[in-house]
Amino acid sequence: MKKIAMLGSGFIGRFYADSLQGYRNKDKIVSVYSRKADSAKKFAADYQVEHATDNMEAAISNADVDVVCIALPNHLHEEAVQLCCRHKKAVISTKPLGRTGEEAKRMLEAVESAGIFHGYLEDLVYTPKFLKAMETVRKGALGRILWAKSRETHPGPHSDWFWNIELAGGGCILDLGCHCVEIARNYIGKDIRPVEVMCWADTQVKPIDAEDHGIGLVKYENGAIGQFEVSWTFRGGMDLRDEVMGTEGTIWINSFLRTGFEMFTTGKSGDYVAEKAESNSGWLFPVGDELNELGYNHMFMDMFNAMEQGIQPKETFYDGYVVNCILDAAYKSAKTKQWEPVKLDIWRGKTGVGKDSHLTDYDADHYLVKEEVTHYGAKKWILKNKRTGKISERVE
Ligand SMILES: NC(=O)c1ccc[n+]([C@@H]2O[C@H](COP(=O)([O-])OP(=O)(O)OC[C@H]3O[C@@H](n4cnc5c(N)ncnc54)[C@H](O)[C@@H]3O)[C@@H](O)[C@H]2O)c1
Repeated sequence: MKKIAMLGSGFIGRFYADSLQGYRNKDKIVSVYSRKADSAKKFAADYQVEHATDNMEAAISNADVDVVCIALPNHLHEEAVQLCCRHKKAVISTKPLGRTGEEAKRMLEAVESAGIFHGYLEDLVYTPKFLKAMETVRKGALGRILWAKSRETHPGPHSDWFWNIELAGGGCILDLGCHCVEIARNYIGKDIRPVEVMCWADTQVKPIDAEDHGIGLVKYENGAIGQFEVSWTFRGGMDLRDEVMGTEGTIWINSFLRTGFEMFTTGKSGDYVAEKAESNSGWLFPVGDELNELGYNHMFMDMFNAMEQGIQPKETFYDGYVVNCILDAAYKSAKTKQWEPVKLDIWRGKTGVGKDSHLTDYDADHYLVKEEVTHYGAKKWILKNKRTGKISERVE
C-alpha cells in the first residue's frame, strides 16, 4: 500500500482521487494541499483524508507520505517537483510536465539527481482502447507506422488560470497537444527521434493572448509523421479521436463522443452527462465509466506497480520532457511559418534511423506497386521494373 499526498483539490485532483479510492483500491490519500484551506478541508472530508493543509511543503514532507501526486496549475509543477526532491519523496505529475522544454528539463534533472521515482501522468496512453490498439501495433498488425493523428478538441477549460498565458504557459497546443503528441509518439515508437515540427495556430474566438486552435505535424527520423489537432473553440462536447495508418493496416479510435452509448432525453435529470458535454437534453453520448475510459485506472496501476517493483513506469518525466520540447518547436513554427527543429538536449532513443525499405518484390525483375481484384472480376498487378523503372500492369 502506498500513501499519497495530493497537491491540488480541483478538477483533476478529484478525478485522480476517484480513481485512486473509488474502487476497492489499496492505495490511500493521506494528505491534501490546496491553495485555500477550506477547499483542502472539503476534499479531505469527501475522501476521508487525515491531513489537509494550505501549505504545499507541509503536505509533501508529511512523514506518512510515500508518493506525491501533482494536480496543480502548470506554473506550480516545478516548485512542487523541487520540494519532492528536497524531501526525497516519489513524485507523479499531471500533464503538461512543464510550461516549456527548459522547465521540464530542470524537473527531469532534479528528480534524476535526487534519485527519486518519477511518473508522468499521461492518462490517454492508458485508455483501454489505446492499450489494446498499442498491443496490436506492437505485434505488427499495422506493419510500419506511417502516420499517427490525434485530436482533442472541446469548448475550453474550466478554471481562470488556464486562460492566463503566463500561468498556463500556452493555450490549447500546450494543454491538449501534449496528449496528442504523446499518443502519436507511442504509436510511432518512443525511441524514434522527433526531428521537426510545422504548426498553424490562431486565436479565432476567445479574448485571450494564447492560441485557441492549432494544427501541427511532427516529423520523425524514420519518416513517420505525427499530427495533432487541438482546439478550445470546438462545440459539442469533448472530441477525442485517434487515427493510425501503417503499411499493413489502420486503426480509428473514438474515445469519448461515440463509445456505443447513445441516449435521448427531454432533460429531466441531473446536469452532468460527461466531461465537457454541453447539453443535458436531446440526443446525448454519455460515457459508461469515465475514469476507466480516460485511462486513469490503468495509469495509476502502472505507476504504483512500477513503484513497488522498483522499475520505471511506462511514462516518466523523460517522456514529459520530450513532449514539451516538441511543443516548443510547434510554438516556434506557428510564429515563423517554417518547419522548426525539435531541440532535445537529452535524447535517449535511437539515432541515425533512416526510412525502412518500402519495396516489395513481385518477382526477380519487378517490384509490386499494387494488387487488386476489380468489380468486373479481373485480378490486376501493377509492377515496376527493377532495372528500367518502367511501370506496367499484368491482368488475369
Ligand atoms: N486529463 C488530464 O490529465 C488533465 C485534465 C485536466 C487538468 N489536468 C492538469 O491538472 C493540473 C490542474 O488542473 P485542474 O483542471 O485540476 O485545475 P483546477 O483549477 O480545477 O484545480 C487547481 C488546484 O490547484 C490549487 N492551487 C494552488 N495554487 C493555485 C494557484 N496559484 N492558482 C490556482 N489554483 C491553485 C487549487 O486550490 C486547486 O485545488 C493542470 O496542470 C492541468 O493541465 C490534467
